[in-house]
Amino acid sequence: MIDRREFVRGISAAVAATTLTTDSLAQAFAQTTSKTEAEAERQIARTTDSSPFRIGIIGPGSRGKELVRNFLRVPGVKIVAAADVYQPRFAELNAVCGYEVEPHSDFRQLLDRKDLDAVIVSTPLGLHASHVIPALESGHHVYGEKAMAYHLEDARKIVEATKANKRIFQIGHQYRYSPWIRAAVARVKQGEIGQVTHIMAYWNRNNNWRRPVPDPSLERLINWRLYNEWSLGLFAELGSHHMDIANWILDATPTSAIASGSVCYWHDGRETDDNVQSVLSYPGGRRCIFTSMTNNAKMGDQLWVYGDKGSLNLTLMDATFFYEPKHKAHVVPTKAAGKAVVTSASYQPAGEMPYRGPGKPVEVTTAEDPTTAATRAFVYCVRTGADPISNVHVGYGSDLCVIPSNESRHTGREVQIPAAI
Ligand SMILES: NC(=O)c1ccc[n+]([C@@H]2O[C@H](COP(=O)([O-])OP(=O)(O)OC[C@H]3O[C@@H](n4cnc5c(N)ncnc54)[C@H](O)[C@@H]3O)[C@@H](O)[C@H]2O)c1
Repeated sequence: MIDRREFVRGISAAVAATTLTTDSLAQAFAQTTSKTEAEAERQIARTTDSSPFRIGIIGPGSRGKELVRNFLRVPGVKIVAAADVYQPRFAELNAVCGYEVEPHSDFRQLLDRKDLDAVIVSTPLGLHASHVIPALESGHHVYGEKAMAYHLEDARKIVEATKANKRIFQIGHQYRYSPWIRAAVARVKQGEIGQVTHIMAYWNRNNNWRRPVPDPSLERLINWRLYNEWSLGLFAELGSHHMDIANWILDATPTSAIASGSVCYWHDGRETDDNVQSVLSYPGGRRCIFTSMTNNAKMGDQLWVYGDKGSLNLTLMDATFFYEPKHKAHVVPTKAAGKAVVTSASYQPAGEMPYRGPGKPVEVTTAEDPTTAATRAFVYCVRTGADPISNVHVGYGSDLCVIPSNESRHTGREVQIPAAI
């Protein structure tokens, strides 16, 4: 007999892989989950529910259309309604769908519809709560983009509205569904790199983060990320994914944040920083350090997990383990110790050099796109009533990292973080 919690925990990957054979699924999931979960996942993979599933979308912009592309791969899904304040989005959405989606200029008209199985909310961050909460309160299940809310109080209200209305809410932290990240995190949790104490997360790019604007009056609508009114900048837009992975690996949410940031390169009138840094402290003195810059892409997007027995490198495409050499005492050679001046050379710099070898890649038998996996999982959860892996508490946890980081950056003070809910 499979416990419901266990049954639900691993479903996304299984749902994501419905096109694989049962045997390759078994192999894939044996790497990511316990045997019980793998069995549960196999059962889900065998389900062939393709009953009609009608979705409405609020904010079919860049991310919204990407979500639609992925949702349309799920058997039975049709996008039937859209709400946006920017007219050109409707034609763009129709082009993605290949048919006419009914447009609404006001999101409330969309929420009044009785023919929807779920609603996607992919509007700018500052608007999430004002779209997600009414959606839940009007009885809709919601796939909401990250970060969950701009204010912690609103994030709390989203948690409450999800519970009070008994709805499915899934947050857009799709990396929780990446097969290689799931496999790697499972191995970290089994102790492969020992006691994990630090996570260093980078998301560096070399571009100005701007979008072309057809008319200056549309600047803030289209480039909302660059303005404080609707945006928490790089912490929310990029950092939230890494901070969520840190919460997942460290099995906790942080207790405090100290952050900084500035505009040091893109002096173009933007309000949000072009580089940020946040040090998040976790129980037991553990740390996650997130840093992002936008004028040098050398480090790209990667996350390093450090334990006393090894390290794990995670990227958007792969995962690699590295193992610590056996600890060697750093003994000063006797000859050098007898001299008045001991140079660094006396300490054998070769022993302090970073390891530049290849590491051991995490092998997975399915490498399905995380967003495809996440969207399939959401439809499965709505159809069956299962709680998503990336549920409202995951969303709240990542807001507990993003919002205090932003507050610390703006106040210049360390911010104490409340407990998770
Ligand atoms: N999970 C991910 O990997 C990922 C990736 C990119 C973006 N996102 C998130 O998706 C969200 C949207 O980002 P984007 O890049 O698609 O932005 P976008 O500007 O391209 O799209 C936002 C859409 O919302 C519309 N909109 C604005 N105000 C509205 C209102 N009052 N009512 C209805 N529609 C309104 C805009 O016109 C636009 O079409 C953000 O929260 C972002 O962080 C997530």
